[in-house]
Amino acid sequence: MILLDGKKTSADIKEEIALEVREFKNNGNKTPHLAAIIVGNDGASITYVNAKVKACERVGFESSLIRLSDETSEEDLLNEIAILNVDNDIDGFIVQLPLPKHIDEQKILMAINPDKDVDGFHPTNVGKMALNLPTFISATPFGILELLDRYNVETSGKHVVVLGRSHIVGSPMSILLSQKRKVGNATVTMCHSRTKNLKEITLQADIIIAAIGIPEYIKADMVKEHVTVIDVGITRVADSSKKNGFRLVGDVAFDEVAKKADFITPVPGGVGPMTIAMLLKNTLLACKRKSQN
Ligand code: GUN
Repeated sequence: MILLDGKKTSADIKEEIALEVREFKNNGNKTPHLAAIIVGNDGASITYVNAKVKACERVGFESSLIRLSDETSEEDLLNEIAILNVDNDIDGFIVQLPLPKHIDEQKILMAINPDKDVDGFHPTNVGKMALNLPTFISATPFGILELLDRYNVETSGKHVVVLGRSHIVGSPMSILLSQKRKVGNATVTMCHSRTKNLKEITLQADIIIAAIGIPEYIKADMVKEHVTVIDVGITRVADSSKKNGFRLVGDVAFDEVAKKADFITPVPGGVGPMTIAMLLKNTLLACKRKSQN
């Protein structure tokens, strides 16, 4: 069994980005600048956004964090987006999800300038991704492709089973892996809450991508020998033995599944850290594109 080490891989990528940024700046270009908007006080979201901002500093980017109260109106949020859309120093920005219930998420994502949409959530960028045109690929699917690539996991002709149909992970992952691309050319089955005989399907998988948010749902009896398992789940489960009162648990019962797997991601330290590295990659791409205009 080989651990797909997202922590180490993301550190490698960040080092590569830092070198590239130094060279870019030495050639007289601006410092890449990522901004993040967060609405409300959700603990996990704040942790993620802080990690994104900290990662910017490490690779030599500028970063701006815009914190808004959970009572912020949709109109006020749209105004903040309008400001970032035209701010010439901002190369890319994200609006951290989920948003409070009174705000229409889709309306917000559609207001982001697609050229600055480093999350790749705008319909224009989702459409380009689906057509296999150059665009920003969302951080989580992009990170999974990169992890499979760097560990030379063969996807061509393999049966990939994706669990979950979210716009952020399951849906783009299914599209990308079926495309004619370096990490792709797979036969993809997408499963979701209405799928019947799930175990029958997962038992046929060469590669499983689990993104359903149910702790330790995938058990050893659901996978075949030599499977590759990508665990996107990251749920906080109460644990009084921990200082912060919780532990992070993936969608896969790691210990038992790892015994049958050729490759598997841990939680934490698998897909999670990769998403931040890929967000930085997209921001550098946005900045470089802008400097060419
Ligand atoms: N919430 C969970 N994942 C993400 C992400 O990749 N981007 C944003 N903006 N919010 C998220």
